[in-house]
Amino acid sequence: MSGKENLSQQDLTTSTFSVSSNDVYRNNNSGKSNGKAGKSATRAILCSLFVCLLAIIALAVTLAIVVTKKIDEKNETPRATPEPGSGSQTGDGSGNCPDTGNTGSSNEFCTTPDCVKAASNMMKSMDMTVDPCADFFEYACGGWTRSHVIPEDKAVLGTFYTLRDDVDIKLKAVLEQPIAAGEWEAITKAKQYYQSCINLTAIEDMNLTESIVTVNELGGWPVLSSSWSESSFNLEDVLLTTRKYTNSPPIFDSYAYTDSKNPDARILYVDQPGFGMPNREYYLKGRNDKTLLAYEKFATEMAVMFGANEATAKNDMKDMVDFEIKLANISLPSEERRDEDKMYNLRTIQNIASSSPAINWNKYFTNLLKINDLNITLGSGENIICRNPEYLRLLSGILTDTPKRTVANYIVWRYVARLPNALPERVRDIQTKYRKALVGTAQVEPRWKTCAGAANSNFGLAVGNLFIDKYFGAEAKVDVSSSNDIKSIYVYFKKLK
Ligand SMILES: *[C@@H]1O[C@H](CO)[C@@H](O)[C@H](O)[C@H]1NC(C)=O
Ligand SMILES: *[C@@H]1O[C@H](CO)[C@@H](O)[C@H](O)[C@H]1NC(C)=O
Ligand SMILES: *[C@@H]1O[C@H](CO)[C@@H](O)[C@H](O)[C@H]1NC(C)=O
Ligand SMILES: *[C@@H]1O[C@H](CO)[C@@H](O)[C@H](O)[C@H]1NC(C)=O
Repeated sequence: MSGKENLSQQDLTTSTFSVSSNDVYRNNNSGKSNGKAGKSATRAILCSLFVCLLAIIALAVTLAIVVTKKIDEKNETPRATPEPGSGSQTGDGSGNCPDTGNTGSSNEFCTTPDCVKAASNMMKSMDMTVDPCADFFEYACGGWTRSHVIPEDKAVLGTFYTLRDDVDIKLKAVLEQPIAAGEWEAITKAKQYYQSCINLTAIEDMNLTESIVTVNELGGWPVLSSSWSESSFNLEDVLLTTRKYTNSPPIFDSYAYTDSKNPDARILYVDQPGFGMPNREYYLKGRNDKTLLAYEKFATEMAVMFGANEATAKNDMKDMVDFEIKLANISLPSEERRDEDKMYNLRTIQNIASSSPAINWNKYFTNLLKINDLNITLGSGENIICRNPEYLRLLSGILTDTPKRTVANYIVWRYVARLPNALPERVRDIQTKYRKALVGTAQVEPRWKTCAGAANSNFGLAVGNLFIDKYFGAEAKVDVSSSNDIKSIYVYFKKLK
């Protein structure tokens, strides 16, 4: 084995270059018993040869580091396995693994089946023939890029996407289980949701009727009807109604969540919203940006599909996109939203109302809580965490300057934009064209995958419960609840408070 290859292995396991650093690999190969009795003479010789070799390599590597200073020495050391005979085994399945040839107490390596598998995956992803100092990316990822091809229905591929695929397949299996007597209502609903999502025949039959009912509940989509009138539009009412259909509301976001500086209490938050495209940057590449125009076309074609006049749709959707560009422009990019302290701005409803007068905040927050039948009365002195006060201030000005028709078109569009997956093929085709412009692929992912993902995002807790029941052993659950790591995190957070 060349010195370079050994350096690679060192890097992979640990950066504390002790002799034992290489054991996971070396000893796997040489197949020694786990420091138990019965070491043959051959093994002993192999072992000492081995240790010598390692010592030399370790020395060489240490020197190399001292000279080049290119390798970060602060990485974590690998998780220790229990001392032989110490009793408290984690993975007893690994107890017989002939892999830790250490005779003494320097047995620091995790050799459970999971650890070995993880190490093997990592090694497969690397290209150890490459000098990490010459091309670190190739060294770290060369094996991975050569053994993976981006599938037709995806624009990117990465370890987490593969993991996600793995989860989706497992979700499919749990969601396809028949509805069981006495199971939680939420679980039944998740299964029914999945079933209705994969039944494309039923979807073709249903047409757009159901969607139009909801559009009307939202006060109607101005682009569709000549009878839409500005005088019957009430911003707060429409925004409140959208909350029944989405957790990602347009115009601004608001929610109740644990107070990050007082974990015992829950508090209302208000923040900039998400947008119709994946993030604000898509809106700021110029008005003739290809993706932005594809998005505008997607909206226009959807409006026509729902019955709009084509010329009206073009005009209205153009105004609407102009409006959304302005909102995106006053929002903060994610890299400026990482400092939790800066995002934590306590404001009373009264404060917010005076800096952002285009919205009736008192009415909005009071009625927001009533959606869930909560009988809570908020005073105008109620504290709210305002994560981006400047957004709300500028939003007020934009709302004042924008025709209500455009604002209403936008709010309803954000609802309509999420529908295609639940609608007949001719509607899904419109979305596919937009997706092609957005992510560069026109291939549609398998239907079961769309549906498993949608069930998971809409019924997260129920689906998570099904998943854990089926795929996590009882020990895993006990481990988590009694884990000292989790407890220490809890204690740590208590201290922060
Ligand atoms: C799909 O829905 C139709 C009703 O539109 C129903 O007759 C059919 O049995 C459903 N198929 C499955 C597999 O559930
Ligand atoms: C579904 O909608 C299309 C287009 O609007 C229409 O031609 C068709 O008759 C509708 N089908 C049903 C069953 O309502
Ligand atoms: C974004 O806002 C800045 C500052 O008000 C302005 O100069 C710029 O023209 C805006 N950009 C767009 C695309 O609206
Ligand atoms: C709501 O709360 C108030 C004050 O706590 C109480 O007087 C009222 O009866 C409650 N209303 C309902 C519908 O529960």
